[in-house]
Amino acid sequence: MRKTILLTGGAGYIGSHTYVALVQAGYEVVILDNFSNARADVPDRLEVITGAPVTVHRADVLDKQAVAAVFAAHKIDAVVHFAARKAVGESQTIPLEYIETNCTGLVNLLMTMRDAGVFRIVFSSSATVYAETEDWPIPEEAELGYASTYALTKLMGEQIIRQVAGSDARWRHGILRYFNPAGAHESALIGEDPRDIPNNLMPYIAKVAVGELPTLNVFGDDYPTPDGTGVRDYIHVMDLAEGHVKSLDALMAGAESHIVNLGTGKGYSVLDMLASYSKACGRDLPYRVTERRAGDLACYFGDPAKAKALLGFQARRDLDDMCRSSWAWISRRSNMRGA
Ligand code: WQD
Repeated sequence: MRKTILLTGGAGYIGSHTYVALVQAGYEVVILDNFSNARADVPDRLEVITGAPVTVHRADVLDKQAVAAVFAAHKIDAVVHFAARKAVGESQTIPLEYIETNCTGLVNLLMTMRDAGVFRIVFSSSATVYAETEDWPIPEEAELGYASTYALTKLMGEQIIRQVAGSDARWRHGILRYFNPAGAHESALIGEDPRDIPNNLMPYIAKVAVGELPTLNVFGDDYPTPDGTGVRDYIHVMDLAEGHVKSLDALMAGAESHIVNLGTGKGYSVLDMLASYSKACGRDLPYRVTERRAGDLACYFGDPAKAKALLGFQARRDLDDMCRSSWAWISRRSNMRGA
């Protein structure tokens, strides 16, 4: 009997890629999404990729009745929870809305799960829960902290889940701390699709490559790194999606709760990515060096050993795969929009 998974935020960037990986792993998947940060036609494109109808409930995790209705309509075996607000900068300007959606929304979901007798959850966390450190690669045991409201809500989410699990042995959780997701599905039918000017590096470079933005601003080249620009642990979004399947498979097989990094353990600089993207799109991309961005760290990458030991997970795609897939997606989407 196929297990049924509730995928909250399943129409979003990482959520939609995880949808594909879950279906291909043999799960039935029900999407709950309020489409506040997802285009309306994502489910149609997921249907093309998977070749099967997509079940979607358009609702907000803050709407307890709507969430309960999903559990009444489907026999849910586990939940993969992405639905959250995720822009670090924005979280500083509207902290209460971030705490409400990311923390109250999580509490609503956990209460509904408990009432429905569902006790397995995979939680989308973030490497931003680590305190600032010079000690790379960062292991899961590193000191925790937060430099933004977004990171605070992810840290609170982890603590809420662990506190609930401590009160009732039926709970099992997979807490997954992402480093920097990038790239797109090989079909070029889904990918990162920010509505406004992107904050993150790859979607910004993608818009420069497709001519929607004039030039990349490199935020500082005077960092203590090999070429002076910021170094990060970029992980292909499909590797990330497959990491969620590994975590869920483990929980469904009765494994203990786990907290793991989902990263590659490799650091790439801004100029490394620019060079790789230029190769992918076939032209040198324009950039200029500007001041450092407030709050940025020089270097940040994770230790992937625990995910490999506990889940058998290892990222297998590299920076060129991320850039090639992003370029295929953004150029297809741009042609579609241009048509
Ligand atoms: C990467 C590097 C910038 C844009 C963020 C957030 C959080 C997390 C991962 C979820 C840095 C440089 C960037 C640009 C640039 N996701 N840069 N020009 O800041 O490492 O982390 O994403 O939890 O959302 O913490 O990612 O892509 O913004 O920056 O030079 O236009 O690229 O200085 O060195 P970051 P990023």
